[in-house]
Amino acid sequence: MADVLLVDDEKSVRSTLAIMLSKSGYNVVEAGNGPEALGMMKEQFYDLMITDLKMEPMTGLELLKKTKDVNPTTEVILMTAFGTVESGVEAMKLGAYDYIQKPFEKDEFLLLVEKALERKALISEVEQLQNELREKYSFENIIGNSNEMMEVLSMVSKVAKTESTVLITGASGTGKELIAKALHVNSRRKNRSFVTINCGALPENLQESELFGHVRGAFTGAMRDKRGLFQEANGGTLFLDEIGEMAPPTQVKLLRFLQDGEIRRVGENEPIHVDVRLIAATNKDLEQQISEEKIREDLFYRLNVIPIHLPPLRERRDDIALLVKHFLNHHHSKGNTKITDISAEAMEILTNYEWTGNVRELENVIERAVVLAAGSVLGPEDMPPSLRKAKTANSDSEMSLDGRTLDELEKHYILKALDTHDWNQKKASKLLGISTTTLWRKLKSYGIEPKK
Ligand SMILES: Nc1ncnc2c1ncn2[C@@H]1O[C@H](COP(=O)(O)OP(=O)(O)OP(=O)(O)O)[C@@H](O)[C@H]1O
Ligand SMILES: [Mg+2]
Repeated sequence: MADVLLVDDEKSVRSTLAIMLSKSGYNVVEAGNGPEALGMMKEQFYDLMITDLKMEPMTGLELLKKTKDVNPTTEVILMTAFGTVESGVEAMKLGAYDYIQKPFEKDEFLLLVEKALERKALISEVEQLQNELREKYSFENIIGNSNEMMEVLSMVSKVAKTESTVLITGASGTGKELIAKALHVNSRRKNRSFVTINCGALPENLQESELFGHVRGAFTGAMRDKRGLFQEANGGTLFLDEIGEMAPPTQVKLLRFLQDGEIRRVGENEPIHVDVRLIAATNKDLEQQISEEKIREDLFYRLNVIPIHLPPLRERRDDIALLVKHFLNHHHSKGNTKITDISAEAMEILTNYEWTGNVRELENVIERAVVLAAGSVLGPEDMPPSLRKAKTANSDSEMSLDGRTLDELEKHYILKALDTHDWNQKKASKLLGISTTTLWRKLKSYGIEPKK
């Protein structure tokens, strides 16, 4: 239930409005003047304050100003006498939600209250979402402790606070967007927008007006003025994904922005200054694209002020186990699954795989396994057949290098596991990722005598 503070020096007016508001389901508290209201606001938070304009010793406008100092998120509605429009406008400049002229209709008043509180709820919802976003992308949640990832993260932490343009390269699914968001969320721009444009997803002739906006009549079909993404991102960060797909004329305009911080809407010559930080990303080889003249060289150098490269997952296999645990925890904590762990054998399959789709592919494999698996530990049987096959192929080549057969390797591995655990079969089987019965069967077939 919303808490409303009603401020008016006329008791009769106050009571009438208070009754009206209580009947509509609000929690209403009354104050007879400004200082009293401010005192009450220090004790408790109010979602909405409705105040009269003409009061002693503090006017409604002064009270509004002080309220916004104490509690900027409290919405304020000002009640003015008939004909004092200026004060109403002044109030809105000072952050009031709206003003209402006396005398007013009951319905008009209640509708205004409802709308003010609706906005309040919306804003807190957005704030909450932003906090969640911040939590997700502060880099404690970018998983990886391989040397390669450590290098990336230390770069991110150094660069985030600066205004430099960053170019993120890496194959599909390596986490480019994740890194871009982390750069934004850890910058002074974090409370402003993070706007993304995927150049590859937009036809070339639309890119320009999407980014820079256009004025009415700029081209057939431009029925009205349109703000571009640069303006949307003002004060924040603009993420140019798949920059290699940007059309040549758009590249020229982008270059101009990088030189003087100004943009021009399509169909207009007047420059507009915008305060936007650029982060670009590509999964293509940009240097090759330059030599093919798909990307202007001067643009490349201006974008590439700080390069961050994300290596493919197979070049940082140390991260795989951590990522697997991270995704498992994620599904478990969301209540999607009973699975909390993964067997050593299954993990080995995952660690040795090629991961051409990188972290995204790994994320999908885990999600699939979690949905399909029975029990509480993921086993090799829960891995997609393509991965299991790949594993056999890999071990094959390892064996021929070693000159040993699969049986010999298995026997060797079992003996090692048993040694590690002082021939405790239960512990050894866990390490091997197989059941004790399977281990027992294998010991028998290899003619290994259990020591006890
Ligand atoms: N280091 C990481 N830690 C945790 N999750 C990660 C990591 N890297 C990538 N991911 C996850 O993998 C998925 C793919 O990442 P992202 O979308 O950032 O990749 P991308 O490089 O932008 O891919 P594409 O080139 O296909 O657009 C996302 O769900 C992301 O959260
Ligand atoms: Mg991406």
